[in-house]
Amino acid sequence: MARVIIVSNRVPIPKSRGASAGGLTVALRDLLTPGTVWFGWSGRLSADPSLQPAIVEARGVTYATIDLKAETYRGFYVGFANGTLWPLLHFRLGLMQYRQEDYDDYLSVNRLFAESLRTMLQPDDTVWAHDYHLVPFARMLRQQGFRGPLGFFLHVPFVPPSMLEALPVGRELVADLCAYDLVGFQTEEHARDFRDCAQRLLGATVRGEWVRLNGRSMRAFADPIGIDAEGFHQEAQRAENDSLVKRVAGSLAGRALAIGVDRMDYSKGLPQRFEAYGRLFERHPEHRRQVHFLQICPRSREEVDEYRKLRIELDRLTGRINGRFSEFDWTPLRYSARAAPRSTLAGLYRIGRIGLVTPLRDGMNLVAKEFVAAQSDEDPGVLVLSQFAGAAQELTEALIINPFDPDAIADAMHHALIMPAPERKERHQALKEKVFRTTAQAYCARFMDALLSIKAQSIPRVAA
Ligand code: G6P
Repeated sequence: MARVIIVSNRVPIPKSRGASAGGLTVALRDLLTPGTVWFGWSGRLSADPSLQPAIVEARGVTYATIDLKAETYRGFYVGFANGTLWPLLHFRLGLMQYRQEDYDDYLSVNRLFAESLRTMLQPDDTVWAHDYHLVPFARMLRQQGFRGPLGFFLHVPFVPPSMLEALPVGRELVADLCAYDLVGFQTEEHARDFRDCAQRLLGATVRGEWVRLNGRSMRAFADPIGIDAEGFHQEAQRAENDSLVKRVAGSLAGRALAIGVDRMDYSKGLPQRFEAYGRLFERHPEHRRQVHFLQICPRSREEVDEYRKLRIELDRLTGRINGRFSEFDWTPLRYSARAAPRSTLAGLYRIGRIGLVTPLRDGMNLVAKEFVAAQSDEDPGVLVLSQFAGAAQELTEALIINPFDPDAIADAMHHALIMPAPERKERHQALKEKVFRTTAQAYCARFMDALLSIKAQSIPRVAA
């Protein structure tokens, strides 16, 4: 039987019936049928990891995971994936650190993944790998003799050639992406940047979405990811009865709620967002006492220095804004570094008058889509969205801002706070229509169709 094998660094093994699913699980839900295998890292470190994956079966899906050695994990995850690739792909060359040893660990984890997965593969399998942790994985799996269709989706942005050149192994990475049969990007811009890199840095021939290098062809296309819009909308409706959501709603005492939800990451533009919130009260003092901004940002990747520095910075900015603008009975900024269940977030979005999604660079940003899906038709909130989130390509009826410009964010918040209901409804209807059209289900079907049609056309996938 032809099976689909999903490969990603983190493997979301369902823990319990009620546990909420992450973005990738939601996006791939239609593939999570009996027979499918999801392979990756177990989240555990061990001194002498076995090549034989540990297996957990849940609802017919096989979750197969392997441990990593502490030293190789550091070079692979803390080093190359999140100290080199993440800042580079988010246009932060100044934060990029490169060490050859980290790259070696990155390659060896990819090789280990390929060797381990090989023990489970059947000739008819179709493999779909996810995200920047796994760029060289196709090459490694081909070296293991696998000849079936191999797809890859990059969840984060891609960069133009002039930027990729700063990475000493940039050409190798582009060549490794070309070893896949199909590579999906969040936007046309990212797909084009990748094809430009293949052409300019490797001399590949590009025709439309097709890239030809060393006698083999691959396709690089845009396949924007989405959410389960209907499911999330219903979740938000149900969450109106969530006790925490009710407490938050009550605590607002009639004031407007501005809400931001982000992993605590420097790509999310959080210091600029906080700064902008202060500017709102300087530029439009009539909003003092009239609004609460709730920022939820679960801590992330604290082994990486930049993330620890960000936390200190946000603590400091929160104190500064509240110290400056608070009144004895009003605290303008509520900031929490803890995660919240998906259903609570859905309910908070629904009571939000403003959704603040202001990353400096982002592949897609699903919070933007979730905020839209959570709104009611009768009294919808307003999305303030960065022009540098992939979502801005689609969600053009949001208030689009430059996240580097605190005054522009402050003015957009002001605009959202005074926006008359008819305009809010009109913008919301347009956004909703898009979020309900480019769903998770559509994303997944488009990718699988494209991958399987490459197989059917038997385009030369493996270099002679
Ligand atoms: C982003 C990346 C994912 C990653 C997630 C959480 O969304 O695109 O690949 O899994 O962040 O980051 P973490 O480092 O904790 O896996």
